[in-house]
Amino acid sequence: MKRILFVASESVPFIKTGGLADVVGSLPKNFDKEEYDCRVILPKYQCMKEEYKGKLEYITHFYMDLAWRSQYVGLFKMEYEGITYYFIDNEYYFSGPTPYSDICYDLEKFAFFSRAALSALPVLDFRPDIVHCHDWQTGLIPVYLKDTFSQGQFYQGIKTIMTIHNLKFQGIWDAKTVKDMVGLSDYYFTSDKLLHYKDANFLKGGIVYADYVTTVSETYAKEIQTEFYGETLDGLMRARSNQLFGILNGIDYDTYNPATDSYIVQKYDAHTFRKEKIKNKRALQQQLGLDQDDKRFMVGIVSRLTGQKGFDLIKCVIEEICQDGIQLVVLGTGEEQYENLFRHYDWKYNNSVSANIYYSEEMSHKVYASCDAFLMPSLFEPCGLSQLMALRYGTVPIVRETGGLRDTVQAYNEFESTGTGFSFANYNAHEMLNTIRYAEYIYYNKKREWNKIIDRGMAADFSWSTSAKKYEELYTRLLGW
Ligand code: ADP
Ligand code: GLC
Repeated sequence: MKRILFVASESVPFIKTGGLADVVGSLPKNFDKEEYDCRVILPKYQCMKEEYKGKLEYITHFYMDLAWRSQYVGLFKMEYEGITYYFIDNEYYFSGPTPYSDICYDLEKFAFFSRAALSALPVLDFRPDIVHCHDWQTGLIPVYLKDTFSQGQFYQGIKTIMTIHNLKFQGIWDAKTVKDMVGLSDYYFTSDKLLHYKDANFLKGGIVYADYVTTVSETYAKEIQTEFYGETLDGLMRARSNQLFGILNGIDYDTYNPATDSYIVQKYDAHTFRKEKIKNKRALQQQLGLDQDDKRFMVGIVSRLTGQKGFDLIKCVIEEICQDGIQLVVLGTGEEQYENLFRHYDWKYNNSVSANIYYSEEMSHKVYASCDAFLMPSLFEPCGLSQLMALRYGTVPIVRETGGLRDTVQAYNEFESTGTGFSFANYNAHEMLNTIRYAEYIYYNKKREWNKIIDRGMAADFSWSTSAKKYEELYTRLLGW
């Protein structure tokens, strides 16, 4: 039996701000239970979903040194869908209204979390063969393991994997302050280790010290070795390219299933979407106060509203999109400039634009199920899960060919009658607009072709079955047994 420990800052169903939570909450269930005992450690946030917070079982607590501080570490536990989740409790660090806040504060929070996760293992009586770390918040784990923990018999031989879900976020702050908060000696603050230019960089520490590094699509694994996508770590990514692997994310096919989804008005599947899917569109038009019109091309967006997702392109041509008479449904929160952009166009084109500036699981499912197309013109995209959800719901993705979008959406080819969506190569607003218009043309004038695009998209398999096997192979390779 191989024992794997996931350490991450978020996971469904407990707490979610983005795709990381979807991945951490769904991948462990998909490992072969006969061969893998995969458990997960998360922070016990005050802001986690109430329905679960009350159900956590207290295990024990202890005190742990973090630099010059001695900190309380409470341990809680919960079994959920066959997986053991552990939670690290400390009200000083985890009582904010959101999981993340000010970066300087977050750095100390996640240094604490990383060290506490390792310190808790003997107490939990769980010695993992591999600690699988996710994103910068857990970047110090491979470093701590090589440092103080390596002296303890219990920790000898534990391997580490660092998965990069988004290289943009690295956990950076000035080295002096970080040194004082994390309890690592000067030895670690050189440019071949934690130091990056003049700052300390948590993710860099993880990348340098982990046995293997992975990221969430093959294309992104290549892209981050280039200057444009490398976020100043491309040199390091190239240096580690022999131990760098791209494994595509999947989505939870039970949670995201139009045939069983209780959030949507009308259930449907790959055989019935031609007749049934439209009922969701009608209901959403009504709910959002849009023109009641079966025929209007309805485009959805469900996203964090940040530059990463290509909103600068949309900003450039949104007037044209509205003039075309497209119905645009946006669900998202994030940067004020983009929130206000959509609010403005909602006001200006009230019957055809709907800006929903909030976070809602239920509404996200409604948008995936109701729209004709789903727009995701990202500047960069490590994997992207939203386009996979759209494909699953028979909503045709329109994407930029970058990262995981490139690996998951096959461009429509009218001569071959192939493809699952529409895509464009350059980060250029008019290239995007032309692609949207091409999709619109097929939608209005070649409905049978359009439906065949949906057929192919719904037939594509982006469940975890293939990718979970790839992680298993990687674990086997790393352990050598
Ligand atoms: P990222 O992790 O970069 O935000 P992904 O496409 O990997 O992008 O994952 C985004 C996840 O967050 C999806 O599950 C998507 O449905 C969800 N999501 C984003 N914004 C919202 C929102 N406002 N309400 C509900 N779900 C959202
Ligand atoms: C990050 C990326 C996104 C990816 C997700 C899960 O948030 O931005 O592309 O799908 O992590 O790996």
